[in-house]
Amino acid sequence: MTTPEIVTVALDQRSYDIVIGTDLLGQAGARIGPLLSGPRPILITDTNVARHHLTAVLDSFAAENINPSVIELEPGEHTKGFDRFTLLIDTILDQVPERSTTLIALGGGVVGDIVGFAASIILRGIDFIQIPTTILAQVDSSVGGKTGINTRHGKNLVGTFYQPRLVLADTRALDTLPRRQILAGYAEIVKYGLLGDADFFEWLEGHGEAMIAGDQDARRYAVTFCCQAKAAIVVQDERETGKRALLNLGHTFAHALEAETGYGDTLLHGEAVAIGMVMAFDLSAKTGLCDPEEAARVRAHLDLVGLPTGIRNIAGPHWTSEKLLHHMRQDKKVRDGRITFILANAIGDAFITSDIDLSAVSALLENAISA
Ligand code: GLY
Repeated sequence: MTTPEIVTVALDQRSYDIVIGTDLLGQAGARIGPLLSGPRPILITDTNVARHHLTAVLDSFAAENINPSVIELEPGEHTKGFDRFTLLIDTILDQVPERSTTLIALGGGVVGDIVGFAASIILRGIDFIQIPTTILAQVDSSVGGKTGINTRHGKNLVGTFYQPRLVLADTRALDTLPRRQILAGYAEIVKYGLLGDADFFEWLEGHGEAMIAGDQDARRYAVTFCCQAKAAIVVQDERETGKRALLNLGHTFAHALEAETGYGDTLLHGEAVAIGMVMAFDLSAKTGLCDPEEAARVRAHLDLVGLPTGIRNIAGPHWTSEKLLHHMRQDKKVRDGRITFILANAIGDAFITSDIDLSAVSALLENAISA
């Protein structure tokens, strides 16, 4: 068994470790046990994840004489709705938690986001631990303390910044994911190279396909790199008043595409991010900020691994630039009516700007729709 990597998110009293490796699900009890002080913890997962991983996690707790109560949710984005969330809160309160009770989130981004939000408001804040089981959750959503739920006004418009006590990222847990989910998570990995590290992007050009295919060393390296990059940003700007917005590379476009396709299976979040990152680099090239060859290189890599890079083949509503721009204007990152974009001078050199002529964005969208 190889020693896991440990990345520390250094936030003073709220600091915590992200542990990355293989066989961590089987060590969950031993690693989490020392952090538990109160009555039995409450483990929350979804039925899909439970089918694959719950037994291993519960066995590891049993070996430490810990017997968590378990709540299994329906898988899917609808579980992040306000009405479902109030049901979850009541189900947790039925267990009569105390201030010292710990919630454990076992699953992907949906489970992590709602359990984090629940932990942040139950009894005005109790501990929670993340055991992310998707790439997206391991490299992004489980790290950094963004929690949230969806309302009819949009995704993640209600939530908190609330850090976990520990993140356990077992890269073997990714083995049970369908290839489409792995690819969608991979888009978020590429994001870290594009926004801040050209060498990492080059590494992905050489090793990305092996990582997607299941090479554990490549997975461990990539997940560790991304967690280090994210931790470095989060400790500088926990509440996203500045630099943290770089993590939204591709997301201004992605959220508009997802809003139009209904946040479902038509276009997964990571697929939308892949297209959004291509658009961000195309916009950067078209506005003279970056060399068009850089934009072509981004598209080529995402194409090569099998991610979508354009919207023409995405089934769904009749795309128009007006509708997409309308969604961008609803984004929670809009400031004083100006849309925030993350653009790039080059691969590995992204920056935040609200100073973009929307006619250039509109022309880019028209082009993408007709390409
Ligand atoms: N997912 C972007 C962030 O955590 O800031």
